[in-house]
Amino acid sequence: MTDSEAWAEVARQAARPDAAAIRARFAADAARPARFTWRAAGLTLDLSRTSLDEGILAALLALARARGVAARLAAMARGEAVNATERRAALHIALRAPREAGFRAGEEDASAEVHATLEAMRRFVAAVHAGEIRSASGARFRDVLNIGIGGSDLGPAMVCRALARPGQPMRAHFLSNLDGHAWASLAPALDPDTTLVLVASKTFTTAETMANARLVKAWLGDRAGAQMAAMSTNIAATTAFGIPPERVFGFRDWVGGRFSLWSAIGLSIALSAGWEAFAALLAGARAMDEHALSAPEARNLPLLLALTEIWHVNGLGYPARAVLPYDERLSRLPAHLQQLEMESLGKRVTEDGAAVARATGPVVFGEPGTNAQHSFLQLLHQGTTPIPADIILVAAPDHPHAGSHRALLANGLAQAAALMRGRSAAEVLAEMLAKGADPAEARRLAPHRTCPGDRPSTLILLPRLDAFHLGALVALYEHKVACLGALWGVDPFDQWGVELGKQLAAEIAPALSGGSPAPDAATAASIAALREAWPGL
Ligand code: F6P
Repeated sequence: MTDSEAWAEVARQAARPDAAAIRARFAADAARPARFTWRAAGLTLDLSRTSLDEGILAALLALARARGVAARLAAMARGEAVNATERRAALHIALRAPREAGFRAGEEDASAEVHATLEAMRRFVAAVHAGEIRSASGARFRDVLNIGIGGSDLGPAMVCRALARPGQPMRAHFLSNLDGHAWASLAPALDPDTTLVLVASKTFTTAETMANARLVKAWLGDRAGAQMAAMSTNIAATTAFGIPPERVFGFRDWVGGRFSLWSAIGLSIALSAGWEAFAALLAGARAMDEHALSAPEARNLPLLLALTEIWHVNGLGYPARAVLPYDERLSRLPAHLQQLEMESLGKRVTEDGAAVARATGPVVFGEPGTNAQHSFLQLLHQGTTPIPADIILVAAPDHPHAGSHRALLANGLAQAAALMRGRSAAEVLAEMLAKGADPAEARRLAPHRTCPGDRPSTLILLPRLDAFHLGALVALYEHKVACLGALWGVDPFDQWGVELGKQLAAEIAPALSGGSPAPDAATAASIAALREAWPGL
């Protein structure tokens, strides 16, 4: 089947009158969950609350074959330059593979390089924890401050928060925003005598990170030499910044920023959660890698997740997706996935530069449940456009409050049920009348209280939130992104769109201080308004 025949078959399925039906599918077949639930690397993926059925799934799997998704993933694993526009490999899977996996990026033995860095990181972490590496004043390090932004912040910050446990070796803090308020509010909580500072930047040229690194270096004063380390691919720049080479943990350009938490960029994870936790995180991701690269298409979790997105975006025209982790410790997961998915898939041309023929990456947003229920979930239940949701449940808690946890799980399942089942006007009326409401008032309110239902959700279940399952979960989404890149034919590993804003910020900065003209009339007017409100400009 050709690519266009496969897309045409997906379109034919989407034109079926029951294309978006979920409730009716359950009514016809209560055994649906068994046929639309898959497991890998300790995770369970339940797609039964979507409108997928055998016909739709067959069309989507045929599309995956026509688009050569499996071959694309295999090319990624072979270290080919799958990041076409930057002519680079995307070998983040080498970061979590054993030494003997023998990954190569062109001429380079990627696995050897990865394990040399892992060993240097392990020794550094052990020496810091043992008090062999101490602060300038001879104190033990209690806090680690990671300075970075985007992929050099979001992944490690998300994982550190998810794995934080009482009594862990060190506390982790993150400074990313260029806004001076970020450092001004963080600094009072930190003691310069017991804080180890990590500057995390693949390029070591990112303006926000370098500005914050300079602020913190000044705060450390004479201690800076003893208390700063860096994670970067740009050793010349780390040296120029004054970080001794033995305190620089490198990685290669084949590690994309949003895929880098497994590399040296994850040093804050190893320092705060401990080396064993970091190793378990890598092992969980590795388990998902092995599954993604070897499982048959019809049982391949990342591919199934990607095909569900194709169905929702291209089949049914849903433009966004919510991520709802029912675990407070995953509160930064939506932000991490926003970068991972939107920076990867927010593309309007294919790899060969032609305009895409259909919609690509949807808007991704989210908050932990149950908080989201009391804010934006209204729109998912009654808004004009269905927005699919990923509902992430963690079966066993790490606290003793079983009652709270049961209630939390009940809420997650209730949202999935409410989205799917909805509540018809007749049901609303009957319920209101049974409760003794005035019939005229019940009829007036019925349209407002009606929920259409047939709104899809994907359930992802973790047995518990430990490092292994978190690693598997994040890798699941990474491979989903790679699959979608292949399905849509876009380069999921570049991010050229972010460059224009960086360039313009560099042009506008001198205009703000009056040193050069503003680049356009709108900016000139805004600068004038700012100057009026803050003469200090
Ligand atoms: O500007 C976007 C970006 O390049 C992201 O892709 C990246 O994760 C982030 O900036 C930070 O980059 P760096 O690690 O080079 O500072």
